[in-house]
Amino acid sequence: MKNICVTTQIKVNLALHVTGQRENGYHELDSLVAFCHSGDQISLKIFDKDALTIDGLYGAGLDTGQGNLICQALDKLRLFYLEKYQGQLPFISMNLTKNLPLASGIGGGSGDAAAVIYGLNQLCKLNLNKKEQLSLALQLGADVPICLSALYDSSARVMQGIGEKMTPLHHFPKLHLVLVNPGVALSTPAVFNALMQKNNASLHLNAENYKNKNALLCFLKQSRNDLLGPALTMAPQINDVLRTLDKYGAEFSRMSGSGATCFGIFENKESAQKAALSIKEVFPNWYVSATQTEG
Ligand code: C5P
Repeated sequence: MKNICVTTQIKVNLALHVTGQRENGYHELDSLVAFCHSGDQISLKIFDKDALTIDGLYGAGLDTGQGNLICQALDKLRLFYLEKYQGQLPFISMNLTKNLPLASGIGGGSGDAAAVIYGLNQLCKLNLNKKEQLSLALQLGADVPICLSALYDSSARVMQGIGEKMTPLHHFPKLHLVLVNPGVALSTPAVFNALMQKNNASLHLNAENYKNKNALLCFLKQSRNDLLGPALTMAPQINDVLRTLDKYGAEFSRMSGSGATCFGIFENKESAQKAALSIKEVFPNWYVSATQTEG
């Protein structure tokens, strides 16, 4: 194999409860996460030097140097392989097609870093086991492990700890979603820092809560995204997005992650696509995408 192309999954936090804060500043989370097709694309090929090129709707202005998490992922993997197995990774040329808006709460950058670990493990036949890959992923960011695990199995999950503990949920109802971002990039650390109340109640999810879509909708209505309050202080437009999703027929709407992307759950594929078209017509500068969960 000379090259490989990995398409990332979109991470949607259906609920996100912040239940505490560790001494190192990271927050304890209890989050219900689903995955949708399809995010960014990363092409990797063995080359005569390391290189990164970026294209795609949201690629302009992205760092092609060490500030980019995917370059850090390549370096970390190379160092790990050398130290643990005395192996040399070849030079790699990477191309990122950035389809997802930046800093938007749906695991864009984390998914890209995860795709580099996943793709290079195959391309270079490194044979790193899942545990080794997940531990590398966690060094790159709290959301990278779950984005990596979604490349192997896109079931919905409960995510706990700072993001490293994951429980797959089987037979999770399929959801038709519309994702909307009002074109505002939000800094995850800034949103977490603005959160006043760090100790909030956990999710308390059980199998009855997702035995079908109606049960799940009932559960979601009683759950929260604790980062909504702080995100709204930085991007009040999030309220407009949520109102718009509701106006165009969402059965339920909420912000994902630290924002500002919000999702609406729709009755079926047709109603999601229709709403997405209408929203895009009224707000041509917003990111609007009709999709469905994978799990
Ligand atoms: O780990 P990552 O770099 O993706 O996280 C970005 C920032 O978000 C962290 O520096 C931290 O401020 C905040 N964060 C947090 N608790 C988490 C995840 C992220 O406080 N569980």
